Amino acid sequence: MDNLLEVKNLTVEYKNIKNDSAVSLTAVDDVTFHIEKGEIYALAGESGCGKSTLSKAITKLVKPKTGEILFENKNIYKQSPAQKKEYPAKVQMVFQNPYSSLSPKMKIGDILQEPLDINTKYSKNRKSAIIKNVLQDVGLSESCLKLYPHEFSGGQRQRIAIARALVLNPKLLIADEPVSALDASIQAQIINLLKELKKQRDLTILFISHDLNVIRYLADRIGIMYKGKIIEENITSSIFNFPHEEYTKNLLNSAPSL
Ligand SMILES: Nc1ncnc2c1ncn2[C@@H]1O[C@H](COP(=O)(O)OP(=O)(O)OP(=O)(O)O)[C@@H](O)[C@H]1O
Ligand SMILES: [Mg+2]
Repeated sequence: MDNLLEVKNLTVEYKNIKNDSAVSLTAVDDVTFHIEKGEIYALAGESGCGKSTLSKAITKLVKPKTGEILFENKNIYKQSPAQKKEYPAKVQMVFQNPYSSLSPKMKIGDILQEPLDINTKYSKNRKSAIIKNVLQDVGLSESCLKLYPHEFSGGQRQRIAIARALVLNPKLLIADEPVSALDASIQAQIINLLKELKKQRDLTILFISHDLNVIRYLADRIGIMYKGKIIEENITSSIFNFPHEEYTKNLLNSAPSL
């Protein structure tokens, strides 16, 4: 077993200032789990249970209160300067809303080139070859490089967002509700694309969703989150066929037409 990511006893708090008194909220509460190389691990659970906060901790967008996050066996807060610099490229995110996540004033070509400009010193030719290759992988043609995000449908925009996440050739792709804003038929296409990309590019994926139908189709293992904790975890077939926790059973029962 080769772990890409290990999260140990992670707790994340938000300081909320309410009524002049500092109230803190525990969004992630003593979470321990790991993701193996090449695996699609899904986090499922109702709104507000802490899924996005957990992914933000992994991408260093929020700082944990306690606990450890190991990436390639190295604590992400104890990386060497070189590892620290490389880390953002190794862990990339795709977000729920492909309308707000792509800058409306940038052409697709510039959107895809920006991460390469920021993170690499590759030649112009090399950048352009990477962009062409990624576009092909996500099923878009080169003609879109000259267009703006508003000229695309939601599904195509999500392909563009995935392409942007892939240009740096990340090890871990975190997809936070990447299909929730899309129509059902388009959802299926994007899910199939992620499955395909995992195979082609040797990707490891942390997939966040409240939609168990989608998760069942995509995930190798599932962690069920409730109130900041992973209350149950198992391989996908076992979660669906032999759920242990009442909460998991209710979640499965409330999912439409499984
Ligand atoms: N920036 C913030 N400041 C204060 N509280 C926050 C912040 N972000 C999230 N929270 C709170 O932390 C808890 C966990 O939120 P989080 O966004 O991680 O949940 P989630 O599982 O991703 O929900 P959803 O399915 O709606 O996206 C919630 O109670 C939320 O209100
Ligand atoms: Mg969220």
